Amino acid sequence: MSRRLERKRALVTGAASGIGQATAVRFAAEGARVACLDTNEAGLARVAADVGEAVLPLPCDVVREEEVERAVAAAVERYGGLDVIVANAGIEHPGDARVDRLELAVWQRTLEVNLTGVFLTCKHGVRALLASGGGSLICTASPTSLYGLAPGQDAYSASKAGVLGLARVMANEFAKEGIRVNAVVPGFTLTGLADRVVANEAWFRETVAAIPLGRPGEPDEVAAIMVFLASDEASYATGGIFVVDGGVTAV
Ligand SMILES: NC(=O)c1ccc[n+]([C@@H]2O[C@H](COP(=O)([O-])OP(=O)(O)OC[C@H]3O[C@@H](n4cnc5c(N)ncnc54)[C@H](O)[C@@H]3O)[C@@H](O)[C@H]2O)c1
Repeated sequence: MSRRLERKRALVTGAASGIGQATAVRFAAEGARVACLDTNEAGLARVAADVGEAVLPLPCDVVREEEVERAVAAAVERYGGLDVIVANAGIEHPGDARVDRLELAVWQRTLEVNLTGVFLTCKHGVRALLASGGGSLICTASPTSLYGLAPGQDAYSASKAGVLGLARVMANEFAKEGIRVNAVVPGFTLTGLADRVVANEAWFRETVAAIPLGRPGEPDEVAAIMVFLASDEASYATGGIFVVDGGVTAV
């Protein structure tokens, strides 16, 4: 590693597994210190044990404003400020469905975690970046933010479109204050979130068949883009949509 994030102070939500974990591990390997937020305390403890003292585990439910505010404050106190925020925590509710069969509770829970959770992370994260004089804010979106390519995942698609809308307006709002805001669009990536697809042979085959590169992505392949966007190499990148999807959205 070339230590592209030396001296950076980062905060990553959903950091106990999958893309968030891979991002935290890579950030640390590149020289950053990383506050890791998640509801999964055992997962956080595992990441902290694996990575060592570059990681600060902070149990936090991103839908609870007081918990997000407290976690951001704890990271700022430990590091003296923050330079990078990755609003990444998200869920795919097993009850998600076509809109005419979609339960209100499933819709609300999906929007709560995927959109309100990102909003709260950005709200308190941006305040910390402003106090540091600038930084990089990254939101994890999805191909479903852009296209109606996931029938039966209506709540998820709507929540992820919302994430992209928020990321774009923030890019415009905060550019003059030195904060770059970008969205990362991972394609089908082998994480806990993808387990339902992997477990269903027909669904898995169909999903992979739609990927020009012919295979699912690995969390580390998404984390590589996160590192770039967090680094000063991405100094002219804001308001961007960085697709890491094996070509799915190209066709
Ligand atoms: N895996 C994919 O194929 C894929 C594709 C496109 C987008 N994404 C997005 O990538 C992001 C990361 O997902 P992943 O694939 O790594 O899945 P994952 O399930 O491995 O990781 C998600 C993490 O978020 C945490 N989390 C869930 N709800 C939370 C809450 N309320 N507060 C705090 N933490 C919470 C979970 O505990 C988990 O550790 C999500 O936003 C997801 O929508 C994933």
